Amino acid sequence: MIPVSSRASSIEYAIRDVVVPATELERQGHEIIKLNIGDPIAYPGLPTPQHMVDAYAQALKDGRNGYSPSYGLPELRKAIAEDEQRKGWPATQDDVYVCHGVTEALQLIFAAVLEEGTQVLAPGPHYPPYMAYPQMYGAETVEYALKSDDGWNLDFDDIKAKMNEHVRLLVLINPNNPCGTVCGAEDIDNLLEIARNYPNCIIVADEIYDGLDFTGHHVSVASRSHDVPVISLNGVSKVYYAPGWRIGYMALHDPTGRMSLVRDGLERLLRSRLCASTPAQLGYLAGLNSDRSWMQEYSTRVMGQRDYCIERISNIDGLEVEYPGGAFYMFVRLTDEQWQNDDKRFVLDLLQEEHVLLVHGSGFSPELGKGHVRLVYLANQDVLCEAFDRIERFLIRHKS
Ligand SMILES: Cc1ncc(COP(=O)(O)O)c(C=O)c1O
Repeated sequence: MIPVSSRASSIEYAIRDVVVPATELERQGHEIIKLNIGDPIAYPGLPTPQHMVDAYAQALKDGRNGYSPSYGLPELRKAIAEDEQRKGWPATQDDVYVCHGVTEALQLIFAAVLEEGTQVLAPGPHYPPYMAYPQMYGAETVEYALKSDDGWNLDFDDIKAKMNEHVRLLVLINPNNPCGTVCGAEDIDNLLEIARNYPNCIIVADEIYDGLDFTGHHVSVASRSHDVPVISLNGVSKVYYAPGWRIGYMALHDPTGRMSLVRDGLERLLRSRLCASTPAQLGYLAGLNSDRSWMQEYSTRVMGQRDYCIERISNIDGLEVEYPGGAFYMFVRLTDEQWQNDDKRFVLDLLQEEHVLLVHGSGFSPELGKGHVRLVYLANQDVLCEAFDRIERFLIRHKS
């Protein structure tokens, strides 16, 4: 047998790993209610806006099928910089680098910054790549706690206790996946205050859900920083409802010029992987440059679904949830001890018996996520109603 690298064989991605048994059930002819994946297109009623699809299709028809410049199409970089300026910091087109989604941006950032012995300090629970990728570069991800009994807000004492000179990247996911927490200006200022003491530390601000803030308090980290270096991440996947296009970006905010070497490393890496998809970049450009009033309609629908889920959960014995302020996730606590100790079995048994697919919380952090499940509330209310009926039935049947 040809050996596989330990790097690859140790990778887990909980969100897609649970799809394997679900696919097997579907193969046997069962219909599964899937509330596991944060892909708006997987749920009817939230399509990519037509003007963006048209622009993408037009780009294909116009023969825009060649490579683009490695850092992105100049007109898209300009539109992104203007969008970031509206969020409150002086981004220029040269600060913006277009990637195959935020996921590629993360891989490039980790490759450019991390080395043996360095650390990434990321929220727990967190979106899984923040744990999976850094180890490929010899680094280690350490989790700081989100407070499970206080709206999953940041535990600043824990962040302070875990910061040290080896931490090169301090991650904020805002709004958060999987908990839906939204941090406002005060939280961000507190985070910057801590990072300020560590001159080699960059804040990675994953703001891919920023247009799905239902609190009105969301602010960009870069807009609050006059000294600490920040890399803002965003893209077309969530707020523009086009995750399959694989377009995202990183924007470097470097007020005191500390990221010059990292920037050079990132640019070398970007050139070596050629470029992101050209027609997809033009589709995103149309989204940025056109009227965005459609977003309100989409958000209203998503918020209504969130409130429906909250109401159902409050009436089901065995479930509890902190009110999420943004994104389209909620991180639901399983109060029965048997599930507290084995959330993955809850997910797999629920799938087998009731054909509802969630993701186990321990997949987002073995310690800080256990005893929970992540639910995506993008399905329409009828589907959510049916899913909760089945979850309730399951909980009653297995009550200890
Ligand atoms: C916090 C977070 N960052 C990044 C991504 C992936 O972004 P992209 O589709 O741009 O690679 C996701 C997808 O679920 C996410 O939840």
